[in-house]
Amino acid sequence: MTENITLISGSSNPEFAKKVSECLGVPLTPIETKRFNDGETYAHILESVRGHHVFVIHSTSPPVNDTLMELLIVVDALKRASAKEITAVIPYFGYARQDRKARSREPITAKLVASLIERAGVDRVVTFDLHVDQIQGFFDIPVDNLEAMPILAKPLSAIKDLTIVSPDVGGAKRARRLAKDLDAPIALIDKRRPAHGKVETVNVIGDVKGRNCIIIDDIIDSGGTMANAARELKKRGAKDIILCATHAVLSGAAKQNLSEKAIKEVIVADTIHISKEKMLPKIKVVSLAQFTAELITSIFKGAPMGVIVRGKHEQVSKREYTEENA
Ligand code: R5P
Repeated sequence: MTENITLISGSSNPEFAKKVSECLGVPLTPIETKRFNDGETYAHILESVRGHHVFVIHSTSPPVNDTLMELLIVVDALKRASAKEITAVIPYFGYARQDRKARSREPITAKLVASLIERAGVDRVVTFDLHVDQIQGFFDIPVDNLEAMPILAKPLSAIKDLTIVSPDVGGAKRARRLAKDLDAPIALIDKRRPAHGKVETVNVIGDVKGRNCIIIDDIIDSGGTMANAARELKKRGAKDIILCATHAVLSGAAKQNLSEKAIKEVIVADTIHISKEKMLPKIKVVSLAQFTAELITSIFKGAPMGVIVRGKHEQVSKREYTEENA
């Protein structure tokens, strides 16, 4: 059934695309992408895609403006090559944190990006852990926004005296969902950002003394949020502190922040390629490639995704999982 899936890898995370292709047993369709001397992006699909359902696997990760532009250009090339349907598999969706006007005269760039992707000719988007669920509504095409946490947290489910911690109030829903699966209490950190890129912890809500804490988040960018949270939990008597986040952006001082001794382990997904220079022995990368391959198969066949998603929760969950309580 999978022989008519066409897979294209952008240049942002070819390792991930290769793994998905291996899981599906479908080769990647060759494509040439390059930058001209003036910085413009060029893309050329090297085989016919006429009438195909094409899945473009490409994170709009840093350098975000370049990777976003590449996605748009690849989709344009596919459209003009008469692809029948284009699904953009965007494991990490850049600009998602610019999802609202926090002050007067600010843009809502996540909406602008959604419009650009749609306008380029994408028929459907598959992504993981959008910064906020509402971004799905910025599109007028189907968006499957999947949760990676059940897969990332699976190896942690046997830990005793567990508390799931959200490093900010915005992540409370995410923490509550995992806490429900692991039958663990939650704690919240009241985080403030006095300026872009600066983090301050005001308070910790919930009991963390003597608890093993998993701090979960969608993104580790500079690592400031996580390092700050870990220090606060340690001050309040937490035992082991493990970080679990889907997208390892790891910009700026991330390596230094994650080296914080209060942090025992960092679990992230492979939605963004981590270069050797940014790696630390305590960073463990869990692959979402198999999950992505299952999602692609389901979309291609027009089959419901609920079964796959429930399956991932069931693997980590300590409770019985049904469609009603999902
Ligand atoms: C913010 O609301 C996000 O969920 C992350 O907490 C944030 O983007 C992490 O950024 P950083 O690692 O730079 O503190």
